[in-house]
Amino acid sequence: METLSRSLSKSLGEFLTSSSNHFSRRSGSIDDHDEEALKWAALEKLSTFTRLRTTIIQPHDLVDVTKLGVDDRQKFIDSIFKVTEEDNEKFLKKLRKRIDRVGIKLPTVEVRFEKLTIEADCHIGKRALPTLPNVALNIAGRGLSLFGFNFAKTTKLTILRDASGIIKPSRMTLLLGPPSSGKTTLLLALAGKLDPSLKVTGRVTYNGYGLGEIIPQKTSAYISQNDVHIGVMTVQETLDFSARCQGIGTRYDLLSELVRREKDAGILPEPEVDLFMKSIAAENVKSSLITDYTLKILGLDICKDTVVGDEMIRGISGGQKKRVTTGEMIVGPTKTLFMDEISTGLDSSTTYQIVKCLKEMVRFTDATVLMSLLQPAPETFELFDDIILLSEGQIVYQGPRDHILSFFETCGFKCPERKGTADFLQEVYI
Ligand SMILES: Nc1ncnc2c1ncn2[C@@H]1O[C@H](COP(=O)(O)OP(=O)(O)OP(=O)(O)O)[C@@H](O)[C@H]1O
Ligand SMILES: [Mg+2]
Repeated sequence: METLSRSLSKSLGEFLTSSSNHFSRRSGSIDDHDEEALKWAALEKLSTFTRLRTTIIQPHDLVDVTKLGVDDRQKFIDSIFKVTEEDNEKFLKKLRKRIDRVGIKLPTVEVRFEKLTIEADCHIGKRALPTLPNVALNIAGRGLSLFGFNFAKTTKLTILRDASGIIKPSRMTLLLGPPSSGKTTLLLALAGKLDPSLKVTGRVTYNGYGLGEIIPQKTSAYISQNDVHIGVMTVQETLDFSARCQGIGTRYDLLSELVRREKDAGILPEPEVDLFMKSIAAENVKSSLITDYTLKILGLDICKDTVVGDEMIRGISGGQKKRVTTGEMIVGPTKTLFMDEISTGLDSSTTYQIVKCLKEMVRFTDATVLMSLLQPAPETFELFDDIILLSEGQIVYQGPRDHILSFFETCGFKCPERKGTADFLQEVYI
């Protein structure tokens, strides 16, 4: 295995430094094709375990994907993603084509919520000092006035009222609403991460299963509007750590089924797609290709070796931190994402770029995304398929983006020409 990997690394270096389009199998001569076909045949003879982590890199060598060095991975990413946005779309399209060709249907998640009402206990009146009897009385939940102290009374504050809706897979849903309208609360409720002290009625289901019947953390991820990181870790370490904590989910199962069907049908995969899929399906790898990929599409590759930083240590910039928070969840295998104001602190063109990458991810991997944004620019707004509009804890509109203007027109609000739809909506609900 050692010698194999050594010879493989060597040839990978050659492959990466040689001229353009290493990956196109059709560009070589007839001899090249024969030689390559022989290599694929040799690959198929390996045991399943080895086969699922070995790929072919021209000029015709077998490589163990878990043993790729940092430089090799970087060169691979650089050679494929030259213009990040366009190349990401092309690459994901190829990935999808490989899956579709053998008739595999990717799993999808549809999130529904019915009559969701969320209430919090609020303290009103003057709060007494926290002495033992006060605490006991507060726990009893009664507002008492004793010895001149006003003990806190509690009342119910309704954060979300009777909200129902569906978040569909393969579509991007935008959650809009003024500050403190309950966006974070709704996202947390759907991700099954609400503060246990809140009173929740109603039901949230994933493909028909209630949150109590499954482990929502394994299916969905909530991306917080606050950045919580370990300041002394670098950006790359943070993402690697996150990727390892989250594991590979069903990627290995998908790959083994894919390879089995391809073998039966006699289909040869495209080398770069094969390398990528096998790398991201390998478990227990310290630093994976998925990290390099995420760093690249989020534009974090320039600061990957900088520490994240916190209140005490100066680290990456605020906008970069925001992207690291998003990246931490993208590296994982979960494809149901609840993203909370990931654009705060980013300029509109960076936001557009990130949302566009996410849209491609949604389109080609059938992911489910619900994202709240504060005042998205018109071009970012256009990327979404569905809109949910929240106002004071109630859903004002839920449906396709195309219909939102005509809906408000029937209510008597007409969007003036040359005004962005998102800005107009903000004004309407205020
Ligand atoms: N655990 C809680 N206990 C008490 N009140 C809460 C709790 N969580 C949220 N709230 C209240 O619910 C309301 C909605 O809060 P939420 O954070 O969901 O708003 P938001 O739409 O995300 O706002 P922003 O855009 O500023 O992030 C606020 O008035 C908030 O004070
Ligand atoms: Mg919020």
